[in-house]
Amino acid sequence: MTLIIDTRTEPERALTAACETLARGLPVAIPTETVYGLAADATSPDAISRIYEMKGRPRFNPLILHIADFDMARRYVDFDPISQKLAEAFWPGPLTLILPMKPASGVHPLASAGLDTLGIRMPDGFSRSVIKRYGKPLAAPSANTSGKISPTSAQHVEADLGGRLALILDAGPADIGLESTIIKVDGDEIRLLRPGGLDVADIEKLTGKAVLRPETAGAAIEAPGMLASHYAPAAAVRLNAVDVKPGEVLIRFGGTAMPGEANAALVLDLSPSANLREAAANLFAYMKRADASGAATIAFGPIPSEGLGEAIIDRIERAAAPREGTRA
Ligand code: TXA
Ligand code: MG
Repeated sequence: MTLIIDTRTEPERALTAACETLARGLPVAIPTETVYGLAADATSPDAISRIYEMKGRPRFNPLILHIADFDMARRYVDFDPISQKLAEAFWPGPLTLILPMKPASGVHPLASAGLDTLGIRMPDGFSRSVIKRYGKPLAAPSANTSGKISPTSAQHVEADLGGRLALILDAGPADIGLESTIIKVDGDEIRLLRPGGLDVADIEKLTGKAVLRPETAGAAIEAPGMLASHYAPAAAVRLNAVDVKPGEVLIRFGGTAMPGEANAALVLDLSPSANLREAAANLFAYMKRADASGAATIAFGPIPSEGLGEAIIDRIERAAAPREGTRA
């Protein structure tokens, strides 16, 4: 049985139940401002291995450490001056920093997949209250089966992991709807490992430096989780569609109709008013709705590549990556 507690109506009960469940070494689904996370005590090997099992996640793929404040962060990692500046400007918020781990930090090596760095972030919203109350950092990947679309609501988590999970905290739809932006500072270079909910332009404005994209930062995948096929719907995905074929689902942007819509199975618009923030918040829920329609193919209209568009396009391209077993 999965217990779901609404944090908006029962915050105190939610905090107490979350802390009790975490203390028993069990994962809890928590709402962050980006997506829902599957959280466990970062110092408990049993709790961490349950996360990997529940998600079917490869053990070489490290988890992000979620902390409540700077004092907690400094117990686990060392900040270089640029990372410090970024954290001060954007935490709590959708920014994960890859930083050297302190020796004897207490974070279980399973959480960091044996690396000597840690991905760390201070989330906003109710999840931060949970960490504050629990008093220890929580390791949390997105609360979905490995390779599937990240959950932006408690209902998404329940549909995917319910039954296997003791507790879900429900804070309503996630504000941002895309995972955090992952940044690694190397000397005086700022490298983007994953575009996400924090606009890279904001990082460039703050630091006065160009952020190096994965293509320019070297070919190797630096965030072990950035495998090409991810966010995988059962439907095939067609990119930059200029029309929609009969029976396809169309996900478009900006309110302009496309040829063929009359014979589409379903037409969804990420943001009729062409607002990328709104589009980001809707993306994963619309991908799930499109997939649930049973259509063989989801066609995506073009999305502008500036701002959050970069992260939206990244997720759509991963959903479109070649893989076995699509419907089409
Ligand atoms: O917004 C988010 O980041 C959400 C919420 C729940 O906080 N979390 C999330 O976690 O998206 P996950 O596990 O789905 O993605 C974490 C990514 C993976 O691609 C992983 O490989 C990378 O971060 N990562 C974690 N630690 C790393 C490290 N030390 N070095 C490089 N990449 C790391
Ligand atoms: Mg994930």
